[in-house]
Amino acid sequence: MYLPRHLAIIMDGNGRWARQRGLPRILGHQQGVDVVRGIVEECSKLGISWLTLYAFSSENWGRPEEEVEALMGLLVNYLRNELDTMLKHGIRLNVIGDIGRMPLAVAKMLQESMERTREQKGMVLTLALSYGARDEITRAVRKIAAAAASGEITADRVSEQMVGDYLDTAGLPDPDLLIRTSGEMRISNFLLWQLAYTELYFTEALWPDFKSDHLRQALHEYNRRERRFGLTGEQMKKEGSKEEGGRH
Ligand code: IPE
Ligand code: IPE
Ligand code: MG
Repeated sequence: MYLPRHLAIIMDGNGRWARQRGLPRILGHQQGVDVVRGIVEECSKLGISWLTLYAFSSENWGRPEEEVEALMGLLVNYLRNELDTMLKHGIRLNVIGDIGRMPLAVAKMLQESMERTREQKGMVLTLALSYGARDEITRAVRKIAAAAASGEITADRVSEQMVGDYLDTAGLPDPDLLIRTSGEMRISNFLLWQLAYTELYFTEALWPDFKSDHLRQALHEYNRRERRFGLTGEQMKKEGSKEEGGRH
């Protein structure tokens, strides 16, 4: 079985999970964190090299204040509780998004957790926080424009590689597989640049119900996909690039 080198997940449906049970949305998020724990551990054990989780979007700042606060609290608890597990499993924590918008205490805690796990050689766990792909691309364009204005680069040197290097995901391969839970079939401003050739997988399961079996089903489906990257099936067979998780 081929594993995706880089698996990205849009964890959606916490609110609906809670509402279906007559509970406040926050309890859905709480349940969602437990699922994150299990899935992170499982991906690391399976040997996935990069796992990226969409945890809070730039648009999510517009949610009711108490929900945003509760989410920040859950994040802090998660980081506090999971550090030992990350160290035990060799997991390195990474963050993408506009972290400058996060409350200072949360930003500090993220920084510390990244620092503490910096030397880890196992799976790279990237949390997308205060993340929006349009925002990420805009910030990258701004930096490139500044570099051009200062004479550091010229316009004709701007390449796809350079754009990628200015994104928050610099150094990460593009995702091979994207899973979105809760039945919504949209990208919601996640990794617009990086998903160019990613296989997409949608499941009806709400994130708090997403278990090992759902993950395995997604990985199984990924194995049945034929990735072509614009080439012909015959060319791809010659290249045998699927074993390496496709092109990056
Ligand atoms: C995903 O669940 C978690 C975040 C966006 C933070 P939602 O909170 O979006 O749950 P639904 O989509 O309302 O059910
Ligand atoms: C996407 O879910 C963001 C995260 C999972 C963090 P949303 O619930 O915010 O997306 P929409 O509003 O359904 O598009
Ligand atoms: Mg949602």
